[in-house]
Amino acid sequence: MSANATDKNSASRLRLAVLGSGNGSNMQAILEAISNGSLAAEITCVISDVADAGILARAKAASIPQHYISAEPFRTKLDGEAEKQYLNVLNDYDTELIVLAGFMRIIKAGMLRAFQHRIINIHPSLLPAFPGLHAWRQALDYGTKITGCTVHFVDEGTDTGPIIIQRHVPVLDDDTIESLHARIQQQEHIAYPEALRLISENKLRVKNRRVLINNS
Ligand code: GAR
Repeated sequence: MSANATDKNSASRLRLAVLGSGNGSNMQAILEAISNGSLAAEITCVISDVADAGILARAKAASIPQHYISAEPFRTKLDGEAEKQYLNVLNDYDTELIVLAGFMRIIKAGMLRAFQHRIINIHPSLLPAFPGLHAWRQALDYGTKITGCTVHFVDEGTDTGPIIIQRHVPVLDDDTIESLHARIQQQEHIAYPEALRLISENKLRVKNRRVLINNS
């Protein structure tokens, strides 16, 4: 392979920054898609608002730069000084797309403006059903027979942005919170890399609320 071809390959890889507060299994699924060649992207950094989050340990194990940045004094949003610190790090890595993977805070106007249409999220329900926290528990409590996961662009609402991909799972009679969440996560690990592939290949067009996929 010529030097030019190598440069071109690295230049065409989408630069992702992953933000998460939890275990990091979605980040891991994205990493696997990158290493098996199905996703032309690069996770340039992982940022967490939780010092001992599993996602930071997974990033470290994969030699990806990790940053713990407290988002205090806020409990449920990323705003103020903390938002500025996040933006500084995101800019340091020339981030092209912010990938929220279990990041349990609401993104506010400053970051939305800085990364307009360039923030995506995964949510463990078939939106618009069950936005917010513990969506799998909401589905069980409500008694739906089907739930799933949604990958969507982030806007100023809570889990309201245009939908890119959804995958469904059945809710079984003997499901517990844990078994249902595990079944949803299996689908998340397919949906997130697939949504990222579509973005990296420039296959999405957003028309009002609809995300149109050009699969030709
Ligand atoms: C995922 O199930 C994701 O859908 C959910 O957090 C989990 C993170 O898992 N996100 C939300 O509920 C956001 N409202 P992970 O850390 O193993 O990827």
